[in-house]
Amino acid sequence: MRKGLGRLEGKVALITGAARGIGAGFAEAYVREGARVVIGDINLERATETAKAMGPQVSAVFLDVTQQAAIDAAITSIESSHGGLDILVNNAALFDLAPIVEITRESCDRLFAINVSGTLFMMQAAAKSMIARGKGGKIINMASQAGRRGEALVAVYCATKAAVISLTQSAALNLIQHRINVNAIAPGVVDGEHWDGVDALFAKYENRPLGEKKRLVGQGVPFGRMAIPDDLSGMAIFLASAESDYIVAQTYNVDGGQWMS
Ligand SMILES: NC(=O)c1ccc[n+]([C@@H]2O[C@H](COP(=O)([O-])OP(=O)(O)OC[C@H]3O[C@@H](n4cnc5c(N)ncnc54)[C@H](O)[C@@H]3O)[C@@H](O)[C@H]2O)c1
Repeated sequence: MRKGLGRLEGKVALITGAARGIGAGFAEAYVREGARVVIGDINLERATETAKAMGPQVSAVFLDVTQQAAIDAAITSIESSHGGLDILVNNAALFDLAPIVEITRESCDRLFAINVSGTLFMMQAAAKSMIARGKGGKIINMASQAGRRGEALVAVYCATKAAVISLTQSAALNLIQHRINVNAIAPGVVDGEHWDGVDALFAKYENRPLGEKKRLVGQGVPFGRMAIPDDLSGMAIFLASAESDYIVAQTYNVDGGQWMS
């Protein structure tokens, strides 16, 4: 493992949806910087495997961000096993894609339940715990360039990520009095199992061979390729560390130059 700079020494982080993909990359980066990390994922088996591979600083807990009892149980278990929570990364999310006339109520409700309400009620539970402890904290929400503008086939996911940007702003303004910083990261396109699923959906709706959409989006990134999770880790460490104490309510694009704001 690469050596870090100790920027998160002694901190405890909960990363939702970190059994794989970007969240797993963040878990590794946070451990490198000295944190203890709890992976909270609906897929406990995969989360446990991921945690085990990263060593004793990482553990896994079952977490379904749509279930209040599971959220409360995860926070309580971290309080008793680690003495409290310093950093929450709201990373769990679901993607779906369909033309407007084919979107189902079931898909829309599920995406909003995980991506929006899940983010809100995770922030709430973490904030309650952080406020009671009195040491402040850091909350990082995963938005997306999809939250910056609509896309013809991606209406619901785009709307959920726009909501994440808005929730980040309101929660940040409400929680900074407790020295809890809330900010967000808006990635562009990040390679991994998630994008394999996205590519398959585009293949279906745009009548393309598998892999073509992924190749084209990679070529369209000014940097010249899709991101890998580690491309986002620097921002995730910064927003979790004391270096970002005066940063409040921001959403940072980490997307190889795709979106400018
Ligand atoms: N991959 C990209 O191109 C990209 C781009 C922009 C934003 N993002 C965002 O970054 C984050 C991570 O993306 P990823 O590519 O690693 O996704 P991913 O699909 O690889 O991982 C998502 C994880 O969330 C877990 N999960 C799903 N439902 C859950 C629930 N109800 N409760 C708890 N965990 C649940 C899954 O088991 C999985 O481990 C997401 O918020 C995503 O929207 C990704």
